[in-house]
Amino acid sequence: MRTILTTGTDDFTIIDRAAPEPRSGEVRIRVAAASVNPVDVGAAHGVFHRMGVIPTGAAVGLGWDVSGVVDAVGPDVTGLTTGTAVAGLRHGIGPDIGTYGEAVVLPATAVARLPRGLDPADAAAVPLIALTASQAIDLLNPGGRRLLIVGASGGVGGYAVPLAAQRGATVTAVGKRGDVENLIHHGAGTVVTDAAELTDRRFDAVFDPAGAGAGLLDLIVDGGRYLGTAPRNAPAPVRGITSGWIEVRADGAELAGLLTEVAAGRLPLRIAGDFALDEAAKAHQAFEDKSIPGRWLLRI
Ligand SMILES: NC(=O)c1ccc[n+]([C@@H]2O[C@H](COP(=O)([O-])OP(=O)(O)OC[C@H]3O[C@@H](n4cnc5c(N)ncnc54)[C@H](OP(=O)(O)O)[C@@H]3O)[C@@H](O)[C@H]2O)c1
Repeated sequence: MRTILTTGTDDFTIIDRAAPEPRSGEVRIRVAAASVNPVDVGAAHGVFHRMGVIPTGAAVGLGWDVSGVVDAVGPDVTGLTTGTAVAGLRHGIGPDIGTYGEAVVLPATAVARLPRGLDPADAAAVPLIALTASQAIDLLNPGGRRLLIVGASGGVGGYAVPLAAQRGATVTAVGKRGDVENLIHHGAGTVVTDAAELTDRRFDAVFDPAGAGAGLLDLIVDGGRYLGTAPRNAPAPVRGITSGWIEVRADGAELAGLLTEVAAGRLPLRIAGDFALDEAAKAHQAFEDKSIPGRWLLRI
């Protein structure tokens, strides 16, 4: 099987190796598509090598999101058999191969069956961003609360807006000019293009996948909550505000529910376009160019 490795120097090396065998509790997926996320772009740029998470010069796999078909099942797996169309999340930074390749092994608990009506490749655009948004919104206890979502036109924010609205929050979104109608359609009560437009408003909680950080504290009520997606952006707490960040969990059962909502049209699916496996460098460049909203897919 072919798979892509990087040493964090913007290199994308395709190697040919034996397909990994699933161990207890694992399944192997023949990959239909992977999608490009900021974590992959960071990994290729060497962010995790520089942090010391990965030794200098070591090669690591790329890709967290995957859709495809189960083609081998390890012992002690129930509910998934070979031939089942699935999507899943490969979580973590490490030496294993990633989803940018022809096959990947994941814990069965990180994998969801695809619902009817969802394109088997497009499903790869969902897991990381939808699970992060769903778990973040749950942490913010959204029912009846005023919630500000920054970066609402991005991947995580684009799911956070409808999920927060569906779970009972009054949602204000900071998004892009061309995205206002879309965000209102998906449940935002108010959309602005810059948080600076909100100086006379206060929110019970802010979800900040954009990493805007400390500048948002003035918009939060005393005793409210700030939640980001990276430790470096979480501001020092003031006025009793709780400040923190979320680390996504791979959860096949939760992902199955989110995919069903996507297939039913109650959650969005934004695909920017696709590339072949050997065009991963172009896919990363397209992600960074930001000219088209949505996720870029690598179709395998
Ligand atoms: N901890 C975890 O488990 C976890 C999980 C998933 C994602 N993440 C992280 O969460 C972040 C967001 O991920 P994503 O997939 O949603 O990224 P994304 O698709 O690139 O979306 C980020 C959005 O935020 C906007 N933005 C950036 N800076 C902003 C600012 N100062 N004010 C307002 N908006 C701003 C961006 O606009 P432009 O396009 O104009 O820059 C973009 O629309 C990334 O850093 C990612 O690594 C963490």
